[in-house]
Amino acid sequence: MINFFKYIYIMKYSDNVITVLGCQWGDEGKGKLIDILSKDFEIIARAAGGANAGHTIYTQDPDNPEKKKKIVFHLVPSGMMNENTICVIGNGVVLSLPTLFEELELLKENGVETNGRMLIADRTQLLFEYHQTIDGIQEEMKGKNKVGTTKRGIGPCYSDKTRRTGIRIHELLDFERFEKKYRANLELFKKMYGDFDHDAEKELGELKELSEKIKPMVVDGAYYLNKALKDEKTVLIEGANGALLDIDHGTYPYVTSSNSTIGGVITGTGIAASKINTVIGIMKAYTTRVGEGPFPSELHDALGEQIREAGGEYGATTGRPRRCGWFDAIVGNYAVTINGISEINLTKLDVLSGVSPLKIATSYTHNGEKLPSFPADLNILEKAEVQYEEMPGWEEDISGVRKFEDLPDTAQAYVLRLEELLECRISSIGVGVRREDMIFR
Ligand code: GDP
Ligand code: IMO
Ligand code: MG
Repeated sequence: MINFFKYIYIMKYSDNVITVLGCQWGDEGKGKLIDILSKDFEIIARAAGGANAGHTIYTQDPDNPEKKKKIVFHLVPSGMMNENTICVIGNGVVLSLPTLFEELELLKENGVETNGRMLIADRTQLLFEYHQTIDGIQEEMKGKNKVGTTKRGIGPCYSDKTRRTGIRIHELLDFERFEKKYRANLELFKKMYGDFDHDAEKELGELKELSEKIKPMVVDGAYYLNKALKDEKTVLIEGANGALLDIDHGTYPYVTSSNSTIGGVITGTGIAASKINTVIGIMKAYTTRVGEGPFPSELHDALGEQIREAGGEYGATTGRPRRCGWFDAIVGNYAVTINGISEINLTKLDVLSGVSPLKIATSYTHNGEKLPSFPADLNILEKAEVQYEEMPGWEEDISGVRKFEDLPDTAQAYVLRLEELLECRISSIGVGVRREDMIFR
């Protein structure tokens, strides 16, 4: 079936780069789809974000072949389980090396050989422990206006990059030069934020050790990926975060610090826009958000909690309960438009079994007038009234369904209505956590 899926892509687009992007507020199920698709790709690359991402996959438990084991990736691309792939961290990522090596170690413990399969673009920014400390300090300083970050140091590291004081991984290859820059940076931060606790000697010691380990992994990312494309290799790009968390297009300032939309894929890998035609958007069959910020279709009642429990909606990175709400077609349509989504993977349809009627947010009004587009001004968004369409739900457990036609009529109608509202084809539907729990149509 998967090979057929690939066949369709090649027939339809005759390109060998495919991108997968989250189209809501993250956690749409990118890890699972990347894990499935990775069978048909030679290279899997991350382009943006950092260890704020938490991408869940299920694999065979090496101690108990009957059982599936959950693995959460933060930095390692989710295609790593497939041992025929090469995984690349693109230059747009902010990289905590200890976190990366912890993940590689975890994979080893699970019987996955990663040696020689993990590459890092030489222009990748390094994220240090002090970035994480400052993330916490900044959140505290913001008080009730805090963003609700993952405290992984993402904002401070990207700020360092744009302030042009960041340190890139190629600099770590010359440790003496690196150390001077690291110390100067730390001093700069202490001038800005006061004398916070930080054990620089310990971190430098760890980094010195890792600087040897990374030597064979560091490559010119853009050169490597473009050469691979020239050699007709296949590349799958794994998005992180989600469209509404994008620094430009999301619900600013309640966003992450990078472009999690298509622009970030291009700058974050060095693969030109003209080469990327297939952009798969992922959306849950409802909506979730973790952290602060507006969420127009949020459910504040028992039904929201029911969906959270049924969907296991707890953050894969921080464990925080995710806020849950109805599917928002305004959000979805916006994400389709700004990313140029060519097809959609709708996930977690199984979670909606037993919820009836279902509601879909179809428009927002402000002061009695329909908003023509997703508003930039959060005051408007927060005050906006949401118009919903209602549809009957279904009671059946659909997790065993593999063909669209075998879904209950009401589930089929729900998917078809979303397709209409999103003005984009839904080509696959998730009905469970495992690789095989997917309907292709
Ligand atoms: P990501 O950040 O986009 O990779 O998504 P997360 O891993 O943070 O969260 C998605 C969660 O939903 C994970 O626990 C997945 O195992 C789970 N999941 C993915 N697709 C489906 C699906 O179709 N049905 C159900 N029930 N769970 C799913
Ligand atoms: P994946 O890739 C869900 C959210 C945080 C916070 C805001 C800013 O798993 O879908 P940051 O630490 O980036 O400065 O936090 O963005 N956020 C995510 N929410 N999934 C993610 O990634 C997220 N990455 C960041 O919760 O609200
Ligand atoms: Mg996640």
